[in-house]
Amino acid sequence: MWSRDGIRWGLFSLPEADVRALPPLESATVVELGAGSAFFAAALARAGARPIAIDLSEDQLATAARCQAVHGLRFPLIQADAHAVPLRDGCADLVVSEHGASVWCDPQVWVAEAARILKPGGWLVFLVNSVLSTLCVPDEGPALPALQRSSDQLGRMVFDGVEYHPSHSEWIAVLRDNSFAVEALHELRAPAGASTQDFYEIAEVEWASRWPVEDLWVARLGG
Ligand SMILES: C[S@@+](CC[C@H](N)C(=O)[O-])C[C@H]1O[C@@H](n2cnc3c(N)ncnc32)[C@H](O)[C@@H]1O
Repeated sequence: MWSRDGIRWGLFSLPEADVRALPPLESATVVELGAGSAFFAAALARAGARPIAIDLSEDQLATAARCQAVHGLRFPLIQADAHAVPLRDGCADLVVSEHGASVWCDPQVWVAEAARILKPGGWLVFLVNSVLSTLCVPDEGPALPALQRSSDQLGRMVFDGVEYHPSHSEWIAVLRDNSFAVEALHELRAPAGASTQDFYEIAEVEWASRWPVEDLWVARLGG
């Protein structure tokens, strides 16, 4: 993932040049919440941004540090909980999360933290499983072409661990409660000609070519 060219989104590596979810990146301070191995932050750094990668896991950050050494790219890696980000108010131009805090943290808490560390007018861009795929995944395995659960089961969900999958209206409410305006919701699907993906077991290509498999939210802090 660190060797990929350009900024790409989701299971099917859709180029940012096509999706166009991000604001201008040149010299922007970008905080990634739940950065994992920080490959997404690395792509942002190559595009001219100044990323800060935050993750709870010491092992993930050790991998990120090893990749930094291999690729000759340095930016801060901070071990911390996205529910309580150790950065000062108003320090960031952009907060991103790519299946990170956006899935694994309580939206009531991490979205408030994102609002706190953003400058007025700053951007929040985050990628999550689509609501439809969450309704269509069985307890184990990829999404099926039929609903597997009711909408009432969205929100705090337990699979292997606790995940957060709010409905669209719940995302809009939590964003608005924290002074964000929704600028876009990109519903990502498998592109024509996609053969396979082995990134996450959310859905196979056939499913994802028919329905949105990931939701990419773009919001902007009022100010
Ligand atoms: C599925 S990974 C996605 C990250 C990255 N895009 C990647 O693929 O490597 C989810 C990440 O969220 C991190 N995470 C989970 N809970 C967290 C929390 N409360 N605060 C910060 N990071 C957290 C995990 O340690 C993990 O690295």
